[in-house]
Amino acid sequence: MNVLVVGSGGREHAFVDVLSRSSGVGRIYAAPGNGGMAGLAECVPVPVTDVEGLIGLAQAQEVGLVVVGPEGPLVAGLVDALEAVGIPTLGPSKAAAQLEGSKAFCKDLCRRARIPTAAYKTFNSAAEALSYCEGHDRWPSVIKADGLAAGKGVVIVHDSTMAIAAVRDMMLNKHFGDAGDRIVIEDFLVGEELSMIALVDGETVAVLEPSRDHKAAFDGDKGPNTGGMGAFSPTRLLTNRIYEQIEERVLLPTVHALAGAGTPYRGILYAGLMLTADGPYVLEFNVRGGDPEMEVLLPRLKSDALALFLAAATGTLDDFGAVEWNPQHACGVVIADGGYPGPVTKGLSISGTDAAAELDDVFVYHAGTKLENGQLVTNGGRVLCVTGLGDSLQAARDKAYEAVSLIHFENMRCRSDIGWRELTDQASMAGAG
Ligand code: AMP
Ligand code: GLY
Repeated sequence: MNVLVVGSGGREHAFVDVLSRSSGVGRIYAAPGNGGMAGLAECVPVPVTDVEGLIGLAQAQEVGLVVVGPEGPLVAGLVDALEAVGIPTLGPSKAAAQLEGSKAFCKDLCRRARIPTAAYKTFNSAAEALSYCEGHDRWPSVIKADGLAAGKGVVIVHDSTMAIAAVRDMMLNKHFGDAGDRIVIEDFLVGEELSMIALVDGETVAVLEPSRDHKAAFDGDKGPNTGGMGAFSPTRLLTNRIYEQIEERVLLPTVHALAGAGTPYRGILYAGLMLTADGPYVLEFNVRGGDPEMEVLLPRLKSDALALFLAAATGTLDDFGAVEWNPQHACGVVIADGGYPGPVTKGLSISGTDAAAELDDVFVYHAGTKLENGQLVTNGGRVLCVTGLGDSLQAARDKAYEAVSLIHFENMRCRSDIGWRELTDQASMAGAG
């Protein structure tokens, strides 16, 4: 079967890579793909926003499964368009993708389905939000732009001056465009963060192995938030009890609520959770795989990726059986441009990726790269994600950094401490036991 992966990041490279190991896969297409997929997939320069172009490509190449990576096309309705012409697609409908497309939709669904999440209020008018902030006295609080803001639309505020500035920024100065026309203000939650990612087929939930990412730009989890500077899997933060709580209190009620509303969820469902003293609370849902979480999960997948993704896309996960995993640990280190998450330089020559990828138990996933006259050059903020496998997190991390040391481009930067909390035993075991 021919498959099409939509997107161009490290996550999509990981999809291409894992699908290339499925015996049932024929040709792999990536739209638009990146400089590292060339050997495994044919990269076709169709942007992820070009719905007609993607349908045309899938039909012309007789694609039997489309895997959509990023949230933008999901929230815009790409899956509805592909399924309308009969192409099975791993990803939720436009209606179900509102779970990520609107924080207010997500919070209202949690409230209706009694899914634990921080207490909140939604505001459609700046005047109301500003007056609420003036009278508010529970700090810190969290202010969130309702719409998609590339992971940057969340501000933690410590007093009313900060809160007012954040509201002005979002609602009046339109810092996040239309995404800030509506905002959510919610209570600040204390605990450890954990991502749980599951495949969902409308009804059945197949929870993937747990993973954790590092969002902060610099070592010690300092600096501005990014899309993610590294990740690891599994994590000992996830005890059986917490796993069951997440499945029973969060994932199943979410899937049932969406099915009950006539908008069943099919695709990858990512719950961003805070493990509080009262158990797991939802921080957000993403309607896609995490990046770089997928770059540490997919190298550990032992089940056949094509069969698994098809089962989720076509409503047959129940027949699939248990998802199988390589018991090894995975640690992924993102190599970024020196300016990331601020302005970045593009077009810098990259060396060493082939040598790194030749190491045993190493996966070099490309993100912001492209081939220019045969030379691999940088083409974005997050440039590569280098994943190592090992029998312990420490071994996986050593492997990843050994590979990173072989790679070079001007002004490259990565965190040197991926997995540090877990390794230094500093993870507070909130809710564990
Ligand atoms: P979100 O995009 O909603 O997941 O928020 C991005 C980041 O902001 C999360 O990964 C948390 O670190 C932080 N955050 C969001 N909501 C809260 C909250 N209610 N309490 C504490 N931290 C939060
Ligand atoms: N790594 C966080 C995300 O993909 O949203």
